[in-house]
Amino acid sequence: MKKNFYKNKIEGFSKLSKLEKIAWVNNTYFHKDNDSFSVLEQYWNNDIDLQKLHDEFSENTISNFIFPLGLAPNFLIDGEDYTIPMAIEESSVVAAACKAAKFWRKRGGFKTKIIDFKKNGQVHFIFKGDKKKLNKFFNKIKVILKKECDKISHNMTKRGGGILNIELFDKTNDIANYFQLNATFDTVDSMGANFINSCLEQFAKTLKKEALLFEPFTEKEKNIEIIMSILSNYVPDCLVRAEVSCPIADLESELTPKQFSEKFYQAINIAKTQKERAVTHNKGIMNGVDAVSIATGNDFRAIEAGIHAYASRNGNYTSLSDLSIKNGVFNFWIELPLSLGTVGGITAIHPIVKWCLKLLKNPTGKELMKLVAVAGLAQNFGAISSLITSGIQKGHMKMHLINILNTLNSNEDEKNKLIHHFKSNIVSFSSVEKELLKLRNNEL
Ligand code: MEV
Repeated sequence: MKKNFYKNKIEGFSKLSKLEKIAWVNNTYFHKDNDSFSVLEQYWNNDIDLQKLHDEFSENTISNFIFPLGLAPNFLIDGEDYTIPMAIEESSVVAAACKAAKFWRKRGGFKTKIIDFKKNGQVHFIFKGDKKKLNKFFNKIKVILKKECDKISHNMTKRGGGILNIELFDKTNDIANYFQLNATFDTVDSMGANFINSCLEQFAKTLKKEALLFEPFTEKEKNIEIIMSILSNYVPDCLVRAEVSCPIADLESELTPKQFSEKFYQAINIAKTQKERAVTHNKGIMNGVDAVSIATGNDFRAIEAGIHAYASRNGNYTSLSDLSIKNGVFNFWIELPLSLGTVGGITAIHPIVKWCLKLLKNPTGKELMKLVAVAGLAQNFGAISSLITSGIQKGHMKMHLINILNTLNSNEDEKNKLIHHFKSNIVSFSSVEKELLKLRNNEL
């Protein structure tokens, strides 16, 4: 075990060329199998500059990881038409979005609202001493903290954003001698991670420097220990709402409108009270949120982390969407914390991301928040509608059929015949395999 571990160790991997990196990985893990090289090579871009651009997004890059980009047209959002780009590999997600878009288009479309637009970050530090003196010190340096960030925040302020507030939080009940500088920011159209982190690191420097000069502090108190300075991906004050509503009588499905709305209501109640269901319910929402976030070059890991933390903000993990049925009106909504950017990061350099943003009419950061929330709500509506009627497997397996056929290396003719066959038969891996075999043996 130990021997193998050392055998595969390599120093200076990042210094190797792309070909050398692949050669090393082939020798070490693929028994010099030439196919391994071709698998990677087939995804290289012929356009050398484009390939270089992609290589430089990350480190130790050896190829490109291709994801399908699908389109969901017919979204009516705040009275405007949208076609939403979705980067996702899961079958039936885009189809569900298309279906929900069409359904709600006939019923007034989606309505959205930005509830709040503040991001935040903290300087985490240890102060061993008199809290009253620390408060005094903080009040004295608050202006200096901001001022010493002027160079960093100048452009952001010009664009209408910047540092909104800085507070001192006493966290000594959680950890001995632990305090935070908690700052809030408006990062306008950028996700703002670099801006926020640069400001926080500057705050930390100012805090340390000014403490040494603060006369009321003892020598020990002057020695503030900075633990770290980093933005928070928990953004409950960067919140957007999306909703749909219609008279219950307009809820056409294979159930009666009354049955549909009642079952839908129960499904939401279950997701609100049972975490086993809430996680899956929210996963369906994230199918939409992540797909649009990826297509628009946003950091979906940050978004996922923030949204799931928000789903447990009251101590219990719960549904992100909610429903009210009052006076015969079905009102379904979602509220999501979303820190997104339409400038900065890879938004101006990744050709597909740029294309997707253009397709979305080059939205501002706030507009993109609305579109992503709609994608999440549409996905959730689609999932619940299927779950409470036909179940999801019928639609899902139909969409998955093509993956099974590809796994079984079927040709175009076989695919067409079997897609036709499975219009009226139940799809499973074994049933497809069996039918394909019959077809190949001329039994169909
Ligand atoms: C599958 O990717 C998502 C669903 O499980 C969501 C849900 O159960 O609500 C269908």
